[in-house]
Amino acid sequence: MEKITTLSRRKRLPTDDTRSWMTMANAGMLDPGNLYLFDHCIRHLGPGAVVEIGSFCGLSLNHILLLLRQHSRANPVFSVDAWQFEGFTKDSPFLDDTQIPAVPYQQHILESFRRNIQFFNADHLPHHIQLNSDDFFAAWSRSEHRTDFFGQPAMLGGPIALAYIDGDHSYEQSRRDFENVDRFIAPGGFVIFDDSADWTDWGSQRTAREAAARSDYELVNRAPNYCLRKRG
Ligand SMILES: C[S@@+](CC[C@H](N)C(=O)[O-])C[C@H]1O[C@@H](n2cnc3c(N)ncnc32)[C@H](O)[C@@H]1O
Repeated sequence: MEKITTLSRRKRLPTDDTRSWMTMANAGMLDPGNLYLFDHCIRHLGPGAVVEIGSFCGLSLNHILLLLRQHSRANPVFSVDAWQFEGFTKDSPFLDDTQIPAVPYQQHILESFRRNIQFFNADHLPHHIQLNSDDFFAAWSRSEHRTDFFGQPAMLGGPIALAYIDGDHSYEQSRRDFENVDRFIAPGGFVIFDDSADWTDWGSQRTAREAAARSDYELVNRAPNYCLRKRG
């Protein structure tokens, strides 16, 4: 019953040809309700960076970049993923019933990401930083200057206007990701938690629920994933 109630909260953006063709061409994991949330946040976006934690092959990132273009937003975009997957150990076979070890699989995902982002958003490349989120936020807090995944100079640091948390969905890591985002989120800034619908048992659900209970955040929507806004 709870699942039905939550699913009925799922909202969708109207169909758009570019979005449809892009979604078919770009592997990934993206709840259609998140597109509705991205669109809402980007329409109301203040100054600051857009940060995505967990990019995989670039599907959500391509949609975020497209919506930024559609809404004429020039906020800098940072994505973070070291592509160190669960069960990733360099020497062991990675995919059952195949000969494919972990490193070539990682390389395949990384090259898919590069190809997908360069194909759909060549004129608006994000700063992809190939680190795990803990190391990324440590670098962000030191305002490091880095060369990003695409070879562009990147200046880390400053306020965050929108964070999409879609990395490791365990409670401990998603909680740490939220706490790190909270250190830098601008007043009026948005946080979207993937896999946080009320019926799921991901750790990210607990993180989102606890964040929503804080008095310094307001709940924008559950569509069905949680979207919060830092009070101004
Ligand atoms: C669910 S997938 C992301 C899906 C992606 N947003 C999409 O649109 O398809 C999770 C990704 O998070 C990455 N990840 C896991 N833990 C992470 C962490 N601590 N920091 C950054 N990325 C992480 C994984 O390598 C994986 O690519």
